[in-house]
Amino acid sequence: MGLDCLIDPVTDRYLRSLPSAVPESLRELEREVRQAELPVSSPEAIELLAVLCASRAPRRILEIGTCVGFSALVMHEICPESQIDTLERYPVMIADAKANFARFSAENITLYEGDAAVILPHLSGPYDLIYLDAAKGQYPVFLPECIRLLGDDGMLISDNVLFRGQVCAGKPDTHRNQTIVNRLDEYLHRLKGDDRLITTVLPISDGMTISVKRRNVPREKA
Ligand SMILES: C[S@@+](CC[C@H](N)C(=O)[O-])C[C@H]1O[C@@H](n2cnc3c(N)ncnc32)[C@H](O)[C@@H]1O
Repeated sequence: MGLDCLIDPVTDRYLRSLPSAVPESLRELEREVRQAELPVSSPEAIELLAVLCASRAPRRILEIGTCVGFSALVMHEICPESQIDTLERYPVMIADAKANFARFSAENITLYEGDAAVILPHLSGPYDLIYLDAAKGQYPVFLPECIRLLGDDGMLISDNVLFRGQVCAGKPDTHRNQTIVNRLDEYLHRLKGDDRLITTVLPISDGMTISVKRRNVPREKA
């Protein structure tokens, strides 16, 4: 097992051979986005997101990092009553996301165009669920806004937090990735050390965290 792989290839192959939790209506879109090698969430990340959406039935969802809208559409399909706000800054992705939301008549999805670092301070909570899946080096910048926007008992799910195992090993594969590895390490320490949240780190997919904002925040942290 190399640095780039969080679970061994045999387990990975087996898990991916099992029936998928992706709704039938989105299987064709999933084939398209994976064939085009777009940076959408892995099958394992999508399944976890689907299970958490189904179990919590969030009324308001915030997604940071839309890409072409695949994960937003999965959440929409699982929770059709939810209002989903999703943020994307790259014009090519924005155009494709709009087309996909129209293709699936996803009226409850609002796409915010621009940099999340600029848009987030203008949003109002509370959100019941936040899916953080944008530029990994910006996670520490997004964290205070995510905590502010989460309602009591709200859930923050972050993807790619172990960056192909490079965060644990402390060994980035390129010089450029040193910054990302450092910032994800900082993010994980801040997330796990924040008394307003209760957080677990899961070594699935590319590393994911699930945090819940505590209703009873210790007084000095409130
Ligand atoms: C991993 S992809 C999102 C995949 C999507 N959640 C899915 O599974 O279908 C990350 C996306 O976040 C966008 N992004 C990265 N940093 C951003 C930022 N600061 N503000 C807005 N979008 C950002 C990228 O352009 C990219 O399309």
